[in-house]
Amino acid sequence: MVIAILVLLLQFFGYVNGEDELLQNLKGCDIYNGTWVYDDSYPLYNSSQCYHLNMHFDCQQNGRPDQQYLKYRWKPYGCNLPRFNGKDFLERLRNKQIAFVGDSISFNQWQSLTCMLHSHHPHAAFIGGIRHHGFSEFTFPNHNVTILLLWNPFLVEQKITSYGRVLNVSSIADNDAALWKQSDVLVFNSWLWWLQGGPAIPWAFIADGNDLHKHMDRLVAYEKALSTWAQWVQSNIDFHKTLVFFRGDAARHPNGSAWGNYDGKHCGGEREPIFKAKIPLVKIPGEEIVEGVIGKISKPVKLINITMLSQLRKDGHPGLYASPRHHGMDCSHWCLPGVPDTWNQLFYAELLRSF
Ligand SMILES: *[C@@H]1O[C@H](CO)[C@@H](O)[C@H](O)[C@H]1NC(C)=O
Ligand SMILES: *[C@@H]1O[C@H](CO)[C@@H](O)[C@H](O)[C@H]1NC(C)=O
Ligand SMILES: *[C@@H]1O[C@H](CO)[C@@H](O)[C@H](O)[C@H]1NC(C)=O
Ligand SMILES: *[C@@H]1O[C@H](CO)[C@@H](O)[C@H](O)[C@H]1NC(C)=O
Ligand SMILES: *[C@@H]1O[C@H](CO)[C@@H](O)[C@H](O)[C@H]1NC(C)=O
Ligand SMILES: *[C@@H]1O[C@H](CO)[C@@H](O)[C@H](O)[C@H]1NC(C)=O
Repeated sequence: MVIAILVLLLQFFGYVNGEDELLQNLKGCDIYNGTWVYDDSYPLYNSSQCYHLNMHFDCQQNGRPDQQYLKYRWKPYGCNLPRFNGKDFLERLRNKQIAFVGDSISFNQWQSLTCMLHSHHPHAAFIGGIRHHGFSEFTFPNHNVTILLLWNPFLVEQKITSYGRVLNVSSIADNDAALWKQSDVLVFNSWLWWLQGGPAIPWAFIADGNDLHKHMDRLVAYEKALSTWAQWVQSNIDFHKTLVFFRGDAARHPNGSAWGNYDGKHCGGEREPIFKAKIPLVKIPGEEIVEGVIGKISKPVKLINITMLSQLRKDGHPGLYASPRHHGMDCSHWCLPGVPDTWNQLFYAELLRSF
């Protein structure tokens, strides 16, 4: 009896004083509604500490001359985000597998998270190679935590047939489904590839059920594909065992007129975030579709709602500094350290709220 009371008391004080002060702070807070603030203690790591960082994201190493973009912290209006704690992250996720499923922006986020964790635990082993268009794995053997990137830019099935590549917006591929079911935490996204046009069209036909279409409006196709994905998640995931997130679509900054720079300028040369928009920022079309699809899912699929906060970061892209040899202007991916580190801080905050 005495022991039971003692245990209760300890639990009570543990709850009041311990880690959960953090949680109290986060409770009911809309962590996605806020502003970027300058913080000299940022960035969270130096790219030289992260030897597996893909050259494409290492803007400082590639000669980007300014550093101010490294110094912004996301400040929700209603609370403070917990500072990223790599040790706590790995403890919480002991014996678990996390999978990011998506395209090169998901690869960007995977690289950010593995760099953030690796810089906290520089001696932890790193197992598995990095293959940009496939499967990347990072393991912390002492914690038995595995962080995967499963390359999958559309989420729905692609099949090579006698009449060419068919993207079936009504179907999830069996081998993808099998991989997804093995993970404990899933972070999905798909968006960038739906925007491609012209000769870069990556399919010959889009299948919608049994109908084959040579052309389909990209946003219509996107909505159908996400709905197929949502249906799959609802009927195949065991929500007692698995946490499912959808990371919101990341904004791109290919055209300055979107933020009031009317000379058609791209992101190159942008040095700071948008603090007060000269013109009202319009929602990117993918965002509306994601909100609609996620809003209809009856299971607890959580949106990591990073679209608006990324839209403010016109300064966060590699621009000309995507690699020493890259001659294009990259206004889609993100420098690391940089904006995806914040996506992962928000992901961490969501994990704190979930475990
Ligand atoms: C964001 O927070 C501000 C300040 O608390 C509030 O006025 C605004 O309505 C919020 N926006 C959304 C989308 O919730
Ligand atoms: C995502 O965040 C933005 C900015 O705070 C807000 O306008 C939007 O309603 C949020 N979406 C969802 C689904 O909560
Ligand atoms: C990162 O570390 C390298 C090597 O120590 C140093 O030269 C560089 O200035 C650092 N970069 C930043 C942004 O602090
Ligand atoms: C390691 O984690 C995996 C899940 O990623 C789990 O299936 C396995 O049982 C764990 N191994 C040990 C020794 O706990
Ligand atoms: C697309 O997938 C659906 C659902 O699996 C299937 O019924 C349909 O036959 C597929 N379409 C084509 C053209 O293969
Ligand atoms: C940028 O957007 C504006 C307004 O939508 C458009 O008129 C202009 O052609 C675009 N510029 C480029 C370089 O695409």
